[in-house]
Amino acid sequence: MRPDLLQRLAAAQAERERQSLLRRLRTVEAVDGARIVIDGKALLNFASNDYLGLARHPALIDALSRSAAQWGVGATAAHLLGGHRDEHAALEAKLARWTGRDRALLFSTGYMANLGAVHALVGSGDVCVQDKLNHASLLDAARLSGAELCRYVHADVASAQRQLEARGDAPALLATDGVFSMDGDIAPLADLAQLCAKQSATLMVDDAHGIGVLGADGAGSLEEAALAQDHAPVLMATLGKALGVGGAFVAGSAALIDGLVQFARTHVYTTALPPALAAAASAAVDIARFEGWRRTKLGRLIAHFRHGAAERGITLTASHTPIQPVAIGTSRAALKAMRALEAEGFFVPAIRPPTVPQGRSRLRVVLCALHEEGDVEQLLNALARAIGQARTQA
Ligand SMILES: Cc1ncc(COP(=O)(O)O)c(C=O)c1O
Repeated sequence: MRPDLLQRLAAAQAERERQSLLRRLRTVEAVDGARIVIDGKALLNFASNDYLGLARHPALIDALSRSAAQWGVGATAAHLLGGHRDEHAALEAKLARWTGRDRALLFSTGYMANLGAVHALVGSGDVCVQDKLNHASLLDAARLSGAELCRYVHADVASAQRQLEARGDAPALLATDGVFSMDGDIAPLADLAQLCAKQSATLMVDDAHGIGVLGADGAGSLEEAALAQDHAPVLMATLGKALGVGGAFVAGSAALIDGLVQFARTHVYTTALPPALAAAASAAVDIARFEGWRRTKLGRLIAHFRHGAAERGITLTASHTPIQPVAIGTSRAALKAMRALEAEGFFVPAIRPPTVPQGRSRLRVVLCALHEEGDVEQLLNALARAIGQARTQA
C-alpha cells in the first residue's frame, strides 16, 4: 500500500522529539532594546542577528513610514514587470558603492539570492565546490542547480584545492560563507581567492554575517580581506542581520548583474521586495557605514565575553565576530543548558543537528551593540552555572 505522507512526517517528527532534536516555534510578545518577552517572561536576548542594533532605529522606521506613505506597502509586481521602484534602484547603487562593486541586485531574502545566483552561474556538467559548514541555502542552491556539489573540509584551502584539481576541466564555482553562521569564524578568503585565480574558478562569498560588522567601513569580510571585485567576483549579503531590515543583494561586475537579471529565477519569478523595506535598508546602510562606534562597541563586548569565558573555563570556538558559540556536546545537554539559562532570564538558543554535526550541539551566543558589559557579565555567570548543571544531569 502507498505510504501516507502526513503519517510519515509525523513519524519523523516523533523521532526528532525522541532524540531531543525537536524545534519549537516561539512567539516574541514584546521587544525593548536587547530585552524580549517570551511566554510572559522577560529575557535578555542573546540570539538576535541585529548586530548593530538598527532594527528599531528611528531613522529606519521613519524611512519605512515615509516610503509606505508614498508607494503603499507592496511592490505589486516582480522587478521586471513594474515592481522596480526608485527606492530599489537607489539602494542597489548605494550597496554597490559601499561594497566597491560595479553594481548590485536586490533579492527578497538571502536564501533566494543564493539559489538565484548559484543557479544562474552553474548547472549540469559544472562543479560547485563548497565549505562543509556553509549555510544551508548555499548547499541547497548547488543541489538545485544540477552542478556536482563537492564539499571541502571546513576552512581548509588544501582540501578545496584537491576538490578543484580532481575536476580540472569543469567550469567551477567555489562558494563559501564569509563568516560561518553557527561557528562565527571567518573563511580564509585571501587564500581561497588565490586558489580560485590559479584554478580559473569563480569565487562566491556569502557575507550574511560579515556585512555591517567587519571592515573599517563595515562593508564586510571582503573589505577586511582587501579583496576587490576582480578577486571575489560574486558577493551575496543580507539586509536582515546587521542592517536590521530584511532582503538581500548580490554585488559584482556589470556583466554578473546583467546576467542575473536574465537568469536568476528567484529574481525574475517573484514579487519585488516592498519599496519601503528598500528605503529602510538605505537608511541602515548610512548608519552602518558612518557610525563606526557601533562596531567599536561590539568589538569591546566580544573581547569582554571571550576574556570572561576563558576565566570561567567556558569553551568557545575561535571566533572574533559577534557569533560566539559555546560548545556543549549532546543535544540533550544543550537543551538543558538553554532551559537553565532561560530560567535565569537569558534567551540563548541551543543549536542541534542537523544544523550542526552530531555531538557538536552548542549554545549560540550572539552579541550586539545594544548589550552592555554588565549584561555580558551576568550572562557569563549564568552560563558557567548552566553548563555545569547540564553536563552533570545529561
Ligand atoms: C550565511 C547565511 N546565508 C544566508 C542566509 C539566508 O538569509 P535570509 O535570512 O535573508 O534568507 C542566512 C541566514 O538566514 C545565513 O546565515
